[in-house]
Amino acid sequence: MESTASAPGKAILFGEHAVVFGQPAIAVAVDKRAQIIVRKGKEKYTTVRSADLGVHADLDLFNNNCIIKKGKSGIINYILESLLMAHDGSSLDIELKMEMPIGAGLGSSAAVTVATLAALDNFHEKEINISSLAKKAHNVEIKVQGAASPLDTAVSTYGGLVYLSEKSEVIPLDADLENSLVIGYTSQRGNTGKMVESVHLRRDRHPEIMDPVIESVGKITREARKILSNNHHNNFKLNHDTEYTGSNLGESNLGELMNINHGLLDAMGVNTLELSQMVYKARQAGAQGAKITGAGGGGSIIAYCPGKILEVLNALQQSENAIKADFSKEGVIIQ
Ligand code: PMV
Repeated sequence: MESTASAPGKAILFGEHAVVFGQPAIAVAVDKRAQIIVRKGKEKYTTVRSADLGVHADLDLFNNNCIIKKGKSGIINYILESLLMAHDGSSLDIELKMEMPIGAGLGSSAAVTVATLAALDNFHEKEINISSLAKKAHNVEIKVQGAASPLDTAVSTYGGLVYLSEKSEVIPLDADLENSLVIGYTSQRGNTGKMVESVHLRRDRHPEIMDPVIESVGKITREARKILSNNHHNNFKLNHDTEYTGSNLGESNLGELMNINHGLLDAMGVNTLELSQMVYKARQAGAQGAKITGAGGGGSIIAYCPGKILEVLNALQQSENAIKADFSKEGVIIQ
């Protein structure tokens, strides 16, 4: 018996960090996936191998122990925690294929967790319930990271463009973001747990200053939802051919909200010199808006640049890695 599942990574458009304090957020699934293949094991321990990541580990599920043979343990912790939640402990052979970098703010841990839990349920011939899968995956992230919002795991499970409400309801948004997003990622890895903690500490030191910052991010996200629900991009496209003459047009509303959100992420203390430079390069190359995406402290930026994709890609690729972020309607898939 072999079971295969995959789940997409994501990019956060609005609301990272504030979402951990109960504010809404908007994220989009991207066409970079994590794929997990589960087979019955031949060895004493469950083995995890990933040629893409250069990782090999043995997992002793009875003693909750991870023996790393090659590579780093980071992503293995999510697989181990998923196994403890959804498997009986018998030996398995697990293969992980990754199309996205780890620690780049693209939700690699959520994608791996969702794919692992889905592949395990399928392996055990259990029917997959999407909403309970998203909840289980969120619990795995909390166990591994200490604190996590349900945003990444929700987007990886459901796919598409998602508004996560204050009450953690997953509300799909129907907006056209095709050919408008570029992600630039730095070589510096971000550590989500550490960044979440540092924002909490800053908030505790300056509650009267930081609470309004966090609330403003929430307001930005609600405003962005309205724009996206009115299918801003289609409206933009109508104007685009006739009026758009280059980067001097100014920011669209959506782009402007991204730029304000970036400033507030800086105020939260998660910006770095490298991220800042990428944001400014993207704007200079014609992006209407650009901001950190994900936890920051390293990781990635996202630029909204309809009509300027190639210009922004070229500008970012001169010094850093950048990809066009194609939108994925598909969430988790059993293959
Ligand atoms: O860096 P990422 O892609 O794991 O995103 C983290 C987003 C935060 O809001 C900072 C944390 C969370 O759990 O939502």
